[in-house]
Amino acid sequence: MGTQLRVTQVDPRDRDALRAWYVPSRAAFLEAAPTEEDLRERGRELADHRLSAVHDTVAGEDRVVATLRTFDSELTVPGSGPVSVDAVSTATVLPTHRRRGLLTRLLTADLDRARHAGHAFAALVAAEAPIYGRFGFGAATRATSLVVDNSRVRFRPDAPAATGSLEFVPAGRTAELAAVHDRTRRHRPGGLLRDEVWWEAAGRRGEGRWLGPRGHVVLHRDEHGVADGYVAYDVTDDAVGRVPGGTAHVRDLAATGPAAYRSLWEFLTSIDLVRTTRAGNRPVDELLPHLLQDPRAVQTGPVDDLLWLRALDVPGALAARRYLGCGTLVLKVVDPLGLADATVRLHVAAQRCGADGWVCAEVTTTDAEPDVVLPVGELSSLLLGGTSAVALHAAGRLDCTASAAFALATLVVTPEQPWCPTWF
Ligand SMILES: CC(C)(COP(=O)(O)OP(=O)(O)OC[C@H]1O[C@@H](n2cnc3c(N)ncnc32)[C@H](O)[C@@H]1OP(=O)(O)O)[C@@H](O)C(=O)NCCC(=O)NCCS
Repeated sequence: MGTQLRVTQVDPRDRDALRAWYVPSRAAFLEAAPTEEDLRERGRELADHRLSAVHDTVAGEDRVVATLRTFDSELTVPGSGPVSVDAVSTATVLPTHRRRGLLTRLLTADLDRARHAGHAFAALVAAEAPIYGRFGFGAATRATSLVVDNSRVRFRPDAPAATGSLEFVPAGRTAELAAVHDRTRRHRPGGLLRDEVWWEAAGRRGEGRWLGPRGHVVLHRDEHGVADGYVAYDVTDDAVGRVPGGTAHVRDLAATGPAAYRSLWEFLTSIDLVRTTRAGNRPVDELLPHLLQDPRAVQTGPVDDLLWLRALDVPGALAARRYLGCGTLVLKVVDPLGLADATVRLHVAAQRCGADGWVCAEVTTTDAEPDVVLPVGELSSLLLGGTSAVALHAAGRLDCTASAAFALATLVVTPEQPWCPTWF
């Protein structure tokens, strides 16, 4: 069998090659085979992406049995804004070919390529948590879901006032949404670039898309008419008999400030015939409960990992972000794939503090005795500030003293929880 397997790069503009690549990947994700329209749209969306395929000869025919897709993107890291990242997606192996090392073959080749291309990070959304630790990834952002009982929503008198105006946005008009998203994603760690092609796809509403056929987008403008927030939501009519019981399902909500945020939630929770507002993939430190007289109007949970990060260049990854704490630690980072092993001195000096309070670190490789020995996946899950070094130490995943774990936790802490609102 091994002699028949071969790896190719697929040109997304070649419709037949794309079909051969896309059909097994949809099957592995338990999805229906793509239509010709899907292929036309995907060909355009994936034009700049790298598509790898493993082919096998099955019953005399050449077939794709494993896929991987990667593309260059931008990830927001604490205190510094966006940095380049190798975004990894569509890792699939047909059930007939699983557990023979095909994912390992495609992914390790791509991580090696990305490291040589100068990326300090790779990132992905894991379908299952046990898959990617062995490849040096660690869970770096988490997300939760909200269920809001609209009848119990009363904003506190000290909540930011709902100012500005709201308007419905027709399908396909996405330029202002893209501008709002771009401002918000640069601010919070974990944010990911959405390019023009992403927004073009979001402009088409329908089943399985960003927004369904019953979906709406509402834009918020500040008092000067500048777009500063939006919500995209679907609705379902869950009336019992003649008692209204509609639900609004928030697919995407972004606001550059608290006034726009409050206005959008006030709007959502007061739509006639809608009794419940649901929102998935929201930050774990969502603001909404803090604005309400009865915070329990918002039921939160479960909390799940979303973005998995992988440092490909340890000094580069540590230097890419900035820090709020100060101190010096020697970290010995061990890489199961041997791509990024390094011992580094991470030095954050209070006097290098910028006007915004964030501090650039000095990161140098060293032979000094390490304060903390840790796998690259554990380092990667700490880098955005969403994982506690104290908890990882208690779990036996950092080799260090309790005080070194505490010092590391204090160094990497961030004021907001990292959050990635963009699936890929
Ligand atoms: C997940 C998937 C890509 C793995 O592909 P694969 O070719 O079977 O993986 P490999 O053979 O390279 O496995 C490498 C190692 O990871 C382990 N592994 C792979 N998938 C795993 C899973 N879902 N859960 C736990 N361990 C897993 C293997 O057991 C193997 O461990 P070993 O080295 O100790 O033997 C494949 O099963 C698949 O397509 N699943 C459905 C779609 C999916 O979930 N894709 C992931 C998208 S993020």
